[in-house]
Amino acid sequence: MQSITEIKSLRSQVKAWRQAGLSVALVPTMGNLHRGHFSLVEKAKTLADKVVVSIFVNPMQFGANEDLDSYPRTLDADKQGLADLETDILFIPSVETIYPNGLGVQSFVDVPGISMGYCGGSRPGHFKGVATVVTKLFNLVQPDYACFGEKDFQQLQVVKTMATDLSIPVEIIGVPTMREVSGLAMSSRNGYLSTEERQTAPVLFNTLKHCAQQLENGNKDFATLESEAKSALEDAGLKPDYFSIAQRDTLKAATLEDTRFVILAAAFLGSVRLIDNIQVEV
Ligand code: PAJ
Repeated sequence: MQSITEIKSLRSQVKAWRQAGLSVALVPTMGNLHRGHFSLVEKAKTLADKVVVSIFVNPMQFGANEDLDSYPRTLDADKQGLADLETDILFIPSVETIYPNGLGVQSFVDVPGISMGYCGGSRPGHFKGVATVVTKLFNLVQPDYACFGEKDFQQLQVVKTMATDLSIPVEIIGVPTMREVSGLAMSSRNGYLSTEERQTAPVLFNTLKHCAQQLENGNKDFATLESEAKSALEDAGLKPDYFSIAQRDTLKAATLEDTRFVILAAAFLGSVRLIDNIQVEV
């Protein structure tokens, strides 16, 4: 595996692959890699001849009071894991490399409709930061495929919408959520949880599963299902941010005519914000 920090070397390696007729898949990450990230790399390997993984803790997508400075950085372990999977390139740019004009960039990418509400509502500017950095990574690597986790379902839809709207020649691939045995969705932020909080955290997925079951049983009283779920989270000691039944493709509020749903949830456990979702078809 080649570790590359500079744009020039990245472009020349990718160009050489292209000239040899090889296809390329990209897996963008912020590092502190776990089995969820590795499942994206494994998927990428089945799609393309060459796989580029990026690790970049993107300041533009963190809010002022969020965990940018304390975000876990475990580069040595990440490199080992990616090398074991025979990743071709690990791209680890500096902030200056990605934002040569500083963070107050004049140009940015915004995908307003699908970024509204849910995480976009609670984290203003977050998806603008995601869309901008992902566009930059797409321009740098020009991948045929890019893999994103369904764990961050709204992010996946933002990126898909952006690629279509801006005619970016990349196929966006969604990869199912990897979970702990307890059902807790794997996340770099789970490392912030205390031992006790880890026992409680699976309640989020259990509540999503319970709600999904009710929908499958034909209960379409969305408002009641949502408020019951929020109460269940509160009873378990979580502080719900949102718990919403949405149309799977548009993320608009579900209607009685819909058959394809995604239930999106975010909740605080102590100071840790957990997010998860479940897809339902009726
Ligand atoms: P990060 O949180 O590091 O996640 C990188 C990718 O891994 C995302 O596509 C995310 O959805 C996926 N992922 C995380 N946990 C997962 C799990 N348990 N199962 C499956 N996939 C999982 O998401 C970001 O970074 C950033 O916003 C990024 C897209 C890199 C832009 O900066």
